[in-house]
Amino acid sequence: MLRSVILAASRSSRIERLVETAPFTRDVVRRFVAGTTTDDALRATRQLVADGLAVSIDHLGEDTVSGDQATAVRDEYLALLGGLAEAGLTPPAEVSVKLSALGQKFDERLARENAQAICAAAAAAGTTVTLDMEDHTTTDSTLDILAELRKDFPGTGAVLQAYLRRTEADCRELATPGSRVRLCKGAYKEPESVAYQSAREVDKSYVRCLNVLLAGQGYPMIATHDPRLIAIAEDRSRWFDRTPDQFEFQLLYGVRPDEQARLAEGGHTVRVYLPYGTDWYGYLMRRLAERPANLAFFARAVATRR
Ligand code: FDA
Repeated sequence: MLRSVILAASRSSRIERLVETAPFTRDVVRRFVAGTTTDDALRATRQLVADGLAVSIDHLGEDTVSGDQATAVRDEYLALLGGLAEAGLTPPAEVSVKLSALGQKFDERLARENAQAICAAAAAAGTTVTLDMEDHTTTDSTLDILAELRKDFPGTGAVLQAYLRRTEADCRELATPGSRVRLCKGAYKEPESVAYQSAREVDKSYVRCLNVLLAGQGYPMIATHDPRLIAIAEDRSRWFDRTPDQFEFQLLYGVRPDEQARLAEGGHTVRVYLPYGTDWYGYLMRRLAERPANLAFFARAVATRR
């Protein structure tokens, strides 16, 4: 219920204006978002890499409605990749890209061309790209574009969402040699016709998908903060004889940093998903919706500002 309310707020421009201009917002945003500029992203990446973590950087923004806007997003990624190479932060740092930010909703070909340019820049910088997955209406288009990109850039990563009923089959399809697949639960509000609705069903699906990926030939990227699923993944990775260079854990910036350190100290490869940019509102609201306990953090920030 609370999750639905917060997700509804994430689409309200009135609440967006209120949150963006509130004096306490900065502290809350800073916990989950690296900052607004490329330099902010580079600074946070340098720190994470120095701490022994890998990074996937996401330039925030998903409501691209014009070709010019899509080109600007592409150029932001090109500048970021140049900066990462110059700072010697590749290969530990890669980038995550939303095709909707590159024009997918109104011109699939433009989105593919923009993604190709970003993949080429990533290859030149000595790193990779992962295509974030968005709501289920975009899944087929995203997987089609991924297949195209992988012809020239086989290291391009996919994301599959365990809450979708189709995902176990997609895992089988993508568990091929060299195929990088991030498995997450899924962050969008989806109808019952395509997605499991209860947490238990989603968790069970996650474990089935995890087994398929770990048993397969690809490179699984296990993206969750869920202690039970992390423990299962640690256990199954041993069962399938996966060494630390054959899979990785991924967690979001600012979420369970102690667990990020624990996994890395235990010898696992750990990648932190690091968002930055001025368009942080939708991202922040999804994090709050996932874990309403984060609202307590929000409330504390408000209280201490009073
Ligand atoms: P969930 O939110 O169900 O939490 C399960 C348990 O984890 C909680 O009960 C608690 O014990 C612990 N926990 C969670 N958050 C915590 C916190 N803040 N502090 C302490 N404990 C906490 N989604 C998508 O649709 N497309 C995508 O491309 C991506 N990409 C992506 C990349 C990465 C690296 C991550 C980690 C996640 C995504 N996601 C995503 C988001 C994902 O789908 C999902 O919404 C969130 O990860 C939340 O799900 P969890 O698996 O963390 O468990």
